[in-house]
Amino acid sequence: MKYVGALDQGTTSTRFIVFDQKGSLVSSYQLEHQQIYPQPGWVEHDPWEIWDNSSECISKALKAANLKGSDIAGIGITNQRETIIAWNPKTGKVWHNAIVWQDLRGSELIEQLKEHVDASFLQQKSGLLFSPYFAASKIAWLLDHVEGLRDEAEKGEVVFGTIDTWLTWNLTGGKALVTDVTNASRYLLMNIESCQWDDELLELFNIPRKALPAIVPSSGMVYATTTPSGPLRSEVPVCGILGDQQAALFGQACFTEGLGKSTYGTGCFLLVNTGRKLVTSAQGLLTTVAYQLGSEPPMYALEGSIAVAGSLVQWARDNLKIVENPQELDKLASSVPDCGGVYIVPAFSGLFAPYWRSDARGVIAGLTGYVTRAHLARAILEATAFQAHDIFKGMEKDSGIEMTTLKVDGGLTNSKPLMEFQADLLGIPVIRPLVVETTALGAAYAAGLSVGVWKNLDELASYWKEERRWEPRMADEIRCEKIRFWKKAVNRTLDWVG
Ligand code: G3P
Repeated sequence: MKYVGALDQGTTSTRFIVFDQKGSLVSSYQLEHQQIYPQPGWVEHDPWEIWDNSSECISKALKAANLKGSDIAGIGITNQRETIIAWNPKTGKVWHNAIVWQDLRGSELIEQLKEHVDASFLQQKSGLLFSPYFAASKIAWLLDHVEGLRDEAEKGEVVFGTIDTWLTWNLTGGKALVTDVTNASRYLLMNIESCQWDDELLELFNIPRKALPAIVPSSGMVYATTTPSGPLRSEVPVCGILGDQQAALFGQACFTEGLGKSTYGTGCFLLVNTGRKLVTSAQGLLTTVAYQLGSEPPMYALEGSIAVAGSLVQWARDNLKIVENPQELDKLASSVPDCGGVYIVPAFSGLFAPYWRSDARGVIAGLTGYVTRAHLARAILEATAFQAHDIFKGMEKDSGIEMTTLKVDGGLTNSKPLMEFQADLLGIPVIRPLVVETTALGAAYAAGLSVGVWKNLDELASYWKEERRWEPRMADEIRCEKIRFWKKAVNRTLDWVG
């Protein structure tokens, strides 16, 4: 039996999962890491905590399955995207905490650039829009605010990498300094057509090219082998990398144009495969790389990104303290037939797609004396479904593809009231696969393809099995009325800052 490992490094936790040749989960170990909030709107992670957790997850998952590193045919990496780390690849010196994708400190620079750079220039070049979400403004902030960093970067003594680069570098004992094309497509520095760093974009953000990792395909090559002094204790090929949302698309076997998925994690991300075609969005969606296999041309996707989904449930638990766990939130939400007129728009770090407004802040609208914590619980879950609905409709318009079902995955799909409401709002069935760890599975697939564990995409597609489906039941008038009130609530979040 051959095994493949996937290191899934997300916003709140890290997992290592071992899959067998049929794509079934053999063993898994997970650890959470600290969220550091130095001031409102800023979010950081400790890079060494992330690496230590990754090592521990690998050791513990292997031990639980009674496997050795040498039993693993290849390792795939999948990661929270856009989060940036600056370090010296020769000495290992880390210059700053990782600046996390939710962090808004690049807003000022983005606002300045907006004044003299045409948004359509940026969109044509990178597939992306003006937002501090992407890595470029975070790198620029580091270069401008961390003493001595720019000098070292100009000398080629610093690399700015996303988490995939950091983990690959650590796993291989410094042999590989790479980022895969899906992660690179989230920097706002990559040309979306050539899939290379773009000189004009680098100049715009004043970032030296030599401080960026090499861009590699998502699969179809071995980047380097793991170092025997690391957690695998042997030389295992590191041979697949995908940003976590692209990994979920891959794990959901969305290999052909028109197939899409929605992942309900810390945020919520809808991606639809648009094939070899670059679709430019008129609806506030992103054009991104879905994956690239070896020297083949890349496959593209349209993406709708929602910053706050599962993190709203966490906020309800940790900050509002209205429940002790997500199961209790579901129970509470299910105890009332509807939201009682309450709408929550969780614009904690501004609003992402389709609005892209970093000046938005959250609201709870429609409060009356009738409202109980059960209605709030419902509104918390419904907020994610409304946001996914807005994006889904934009996607249909942009791509001309009418989706008849939506594949879903991620932790929040365990919420029955949320999934029921999602099907109701979209008016189509929502379907969850048997293997719900689609993000890790996608990374494992990418790695396994590179070393011959799996033959091709058709074989991978044959492993996808439906586990659960939610059918829509809501009357059209009710749905339209709810969407109307949701839009009113969204409008109240705009222009809050400044
Ligand atoms: O773009 C951010 C995204 O990659 C984070 O994903 O799963 O940690 O919410 P997740």
